[in-house]
Amino acid sequence: SRDDRIARIASAIRVIPDFPKPGIMFQDITTLLLDPKAFKDTIDLFVERYKGKDISVVAGIEARGFIFGPPIALAIGAKFVPMRKPKKLPGEVISEEYSLEYGTDKMEMHVGAVQAGERALIIDDLIATGGTLCAAIRLLGKRVGVHVVECACVIELADLKGRERLGDRPLFVLVSST
Ligand code: PRP
Repeated sequence: SRDDRIARIASAIRVIPDFPKPGIMFQDITTLLLDPKAFKDTIDLFVERYKGKDISVVAGIEARGFIFGPPIALAIGAKFVPMRKPKKLPGEVISEEYSLEYGTDKMEMHVGAVQAGERALIIDDLIATGGTLCAAIRLLGKRVGVHVVECACVIELADLKGRERLGDRPLFVLVSST
């Protein structure tokens, strides 16, 4: 059943305390990737949700959105577009700044990868404060005129209320952690 699949996915995610710094409980999806059934179930649950929704773009966020995004894109017949850290993409880029706990970071996307009016799904492994997904939504939505159908993550850190920061943009997650 769906609940069995979600339970197996949740138990395949390893939590490492105090990484990368004291007080952070790091949600490690590399152990999910080691369990082929749980990994496949993860992809299948997203594919079941987004197949037939006329999505032409799956935008994956560096780094772990690059693991989950491409198999979903292939299965639903969409293109894959990487949303990268600064100075990684070789072509002309557009970029959006976003705030971190200390300072700011930037997200970049190739100009011409997507067109106004396309329907996009944004994928990442995890939503914490929601700042990263917000930047991706601005890049695709405000800057290019893409319709962001939904954001999807494997894990949500519900206490951080990142979902509220996304405003009216829907967020779909498999595992909510408190
Ligand atoms: C993590 C995670 C998300 C982001 C979520 O990435 O994979 O991309 O943080 O945080 P937010 O909701 O508070 O914005 P990380 O910063 O570890 O970068 P990496 O994937 O390149 O290691």
